[in-house]
Amino acid sequence: MVEFSGGFADVLRANLWLRSAMRVLVRLADGPAGSREGLYRLALGVRWEELIGRGQTFAVEVAGRGDAFAHSTFPALVVKDAIADRLRSRRGERPDVDRERPDVVVHAHLSGAHAGLSLDGTGEPLSHRGWRPRGGPAPLAESLAAGVLLLAGYDGSQPFLDPMCGTGTLAIEAALIATGSAPGLGRPFACERWATASATEVRDLRAEARRRRRPAPAPIVGSDADGRAVAAGARNAQEAGVGAEVRFETRDVRELQPPGAGAVIVANPPYGHRLGRDSDLGGLYAEIGDALKRRAAGCTAWILVGDPELAKRIGLRPKRRVVLFNGPIECRLLGFDLVQGRLPARGGAEAT
Ligand SMILES: C[S@@+](CC[C@H](N)C(=O)[O-])C[C@H]1O[C@@H](n2cnc3c(N)ncnc32)[C@H](O)[C@@H]1O
Repeated sequence: MVEFSGGFADVLRANLWLRSAMRVLVRLADGPAGSREGLYRLALGVRWEELIGRGQTFAVEVAGRGDAFAHSTFPALVVKDAIADRLRSRRGERPDVDRERPDVVVHAHLSGAHAGLSLDGTGEPLSHRGWRPRGGPAPLAESLAAGVLLLAGYDGSQPFLDPMCGTGTLAIEAALIATGSAPGLGRPFACERWATASATEVRDLRAEARRRRRPAPAPIVGSDADGRAVAAGARNAQEAGVGAEVRFETRDVRELQPPGAGAVIVANPPYGHRLGRDSDLGGLYAEIGDALKRRAAGCTAWILVGDPELAKRIGLRPKRRVVLFNGPIECRLLGFDLVQGRLPARGGAEAT
C-alpha cells in the first residue's frame, strides 16, 4: 500500500496513470473495531451524506479478517446498516444497496481489532485496461507486465523485444509506456460516478492524457513460435490503441532477433504451474539462454520465471533477482547483462 493525499483530480489522475497499481482507495476512517458496536460506530461517524448522492446506490466490500467476525458477510452488513441509518437520520430516506452495479463502493478493511473504511475510486481493478474482453483470460496481468517493465528500467527509449510474447501483454504495455499513454484512458473509473466528481476535471484530465500521446521513439517487437498467439497479440494491440506501434512476428525463441542495439528483452516463458509440467521445459530454458548469449550481445534480458530449477537451466548469472507474485505463484524476475564476446560454459555460472 502506498499513501498520498490530494483531491478528486488526484484520484482520477492516479487511476489514469498508475501502471502497476491495482486500486485507488480514499481513506475515510480508521479505528478500533473489535466488536459489532465498534465497527458500527466507526462507520456511523463518516459523513456519508456528502459521499453518496440522493438516488445513488452503494455496496460494501470487506477484505482482511477481524477478530469479532468469522465471515465477511456480517461486517459488510454492519457497515451497510450504519450507512443506511446515518443517511436516513440526515435525509429521511434510505439509500438502495446494489451489489451488481453500485454507484459507490465502500471498502472495509479488517485487521484484528482494527478497521479501515475507504471509498473505492477504481471499480474493476486497474490491471483491466479496457482492451481485453471483460472476464477473458489474462495470461499475465497487465499491471504485473507493466511492473516488470518498470523494474527492467524500460522507459520507451530503448528497442524492445518479447521473444515469447503469447497474446502480447508485455509488448502492449511497453508500447503504452513508449507512447506516453495513460494505461487507463480506455476505461471508466468508479470515482467518475461519485457525488463529488467534477465533470470538468474528468474532461480536462482525459483530454490532457490524450494530448500527451506521442509516437514510440524506438521499435517494439513481440514474437512467438505459435502463430495463433501472434495473431491474438496483434488484435489485442489494435484494441489497446497501439496496433501501429508493435510489430508481431511468428518466430522461435532460438532465432530471436533484437530489434536494435542495446535492446531490452523481456520474456515470460512457459512454466509448469500454468501449462502442465512438461519434461522438455528444461531444454527450452537452456535454449533461451543459448539464444540470448549467441544472438543478443549488448542487450539486457529480463526473464520472469516461476520455477527455480528451470531458471538454473538458462545458464547465465543474473545481475538482479526480484521476487514477484503472479497471482499466488511466487516468481523471480531475473535480469541479465549480455556482455559482448563472452560465452560462459554451460553448467558454470547459473541462475537461481
Ligand atoms: C506464459 S506464455 C506467455 C504469455 C504472454 N506473456 C501473454 O501475455 O500472453 C509463454 C509463451 O511462450 C511461447 N513459446 C513456447 N515455446 C516457444 C519457443 N520455442 N519459441 C517462441 N515462443 C515459445 C508459447 O507459445 C507461449 O505463448
